[in-house]
Amino acid sequence: MNNFEFKNPTKIIFGKGTIANLSKEIPAKAKILLLYGGGSIKTNGIYDQVMKAVSGFEVVEFPGIPANPEYSVLMKALHIIKTQKITFLLAVGGGSVIDGTKFLSAAALYEEETPWNLLTSGRPILKGLPFASVLTLPATGSEMNSGFVITRKETKEKLAAGGPALYPLFSILDPQVVSSIPQKQIANGLADAYTHVLEQYMTYPADALLQDRFSESILQTLIEVAPAILKDPADYPAASNFMWSCTMALNGLIGQGVPQDWAVHMMGHELTALFGIDHARTLAIIAPSHYRYNLATKKEKLAQYAERIWGITNGTIEEKAQAGIEKTEEFFHSLGIKTRLSEYTPDYTGTAEIIAKKFTSRGWLGLGESQKLAPADVAKIVEMSY
Ligand code: NZQ
Ligand code: ZN
Repeated sequence: MNNFEFKNPTKIIFGKGTIANLSKEIPAKAKILLLYGGGSIKTNGIYDQVMKAVSGFEVVEFPGIPANPEYSVLMKALHIIKTQKITFLLAVGGGSVIDGTKFLSAAALYEEETPWNLLTSGRPILKGLPFASVLTLPATGSEMNSGFVITRKETKEKLAAGGPALYPLFSILDPQVVSSIPQKQIANGLADAYTHVLEQYMTYPADALLQDRFSESILQTLIEVAPAILKDPADYPAASNFMWSCTMALNGLIGQGVPQDWAVHMMGHELTALFGIDHARTLAIIAPSHYRYNLATKKEKLAQYAERIWGITNGTIEEKAQAGIEKTEEFFHSLGIKTRLSEYTPDYTGTAEIIAKKFTSRGWLGLGESQKLAPADVAKIVEMSY
């Protein structure tokens, strides 16, 4: 096991009816900017619950943060934060709203010329305006981590950043919010969380027995609850386990002391930037090809995964590893998610070269757990996923 330091300061308030706790958790006298998305919270009752809970505070609203939070929209919110002297940000939404809020938290205290530099400098973010979240969509883990991903349509970029200042002060997780989520977004949440675990697990053995078991238990739980939550999002036992699994998949715990990959996400983000494909679906497109391409370096963990998660005990390590990849693809299909780029867009020719070029120009010359995947490898993996 590798050395590590781990601190996650986000307070989680989990369970039925917990949105009402907001008033106790927000600092007294805060001037709140309430940030949300395209309006789902207005029709499912979450907005009313939040407004009731914050009735004792001064609140300014900023609606309209789109899926894949857009830089130009967020810049309007930044103007409000500065001109109205906002002191606290409250995100009510899924990963997009929470990520947009994290960017704003950092941008509000950023002194350099353009806040876009937060995304390109590669420096960890060390200060931010305090913020919290009410999670409405289990998927990203953003409610309990310090990372965020911002899209810029103008330049077709989607970049990630983060830092110790960007953990939410608290996050409210009421699994009852899941009941209004469309099936497509539930499938996305399952696939995203599943891939978050794979990014921290599907590398090479590192004598991290407990981390492996943590990861495997999250995968097993997601597989177990998937049919129930897809059938009925109001199934509370399924919703609560789904929600907590998504948070645990990317709150830092399972990644401590182990090598991590994240190449699937880096390639996937480019597919969203180029084609607007939902984040989780881009991962389902890339992951099978990535694991096939890197079979030689990942086969031990792939075989362990095949055995422990899918009960595949026959065959050589290579055969079990291959079978594990097939099972992963089948799992995505069972969620109604397609795993080929050509199933999402007719304009895929040349994508591999475009992405490889972007990585080269950004100096991303070695991806994956061993920093050995060059842009030429990236091109091959993307091409395999056509
Ligand atoms: O905008 P509204 O109207 O609210 O509708 C949203 C949105 O259209 C809807 N929705 C959310 N909660 C709902 C609901 N509809 C009905 N009932 C509810 N309770 O769902 C749609 C998708 O929302 P979004 O927030 O975009 O989804 P998700 O949580 O999957 O977030 C995706 C974003 O997070 C980034 C992705 O790249 C993407 O930009 N990620 C962030 C990560 C992080 N911060 O750690 C890690 C991830 O790997 C990921 O990259
Ligand atoms: Zn993800």
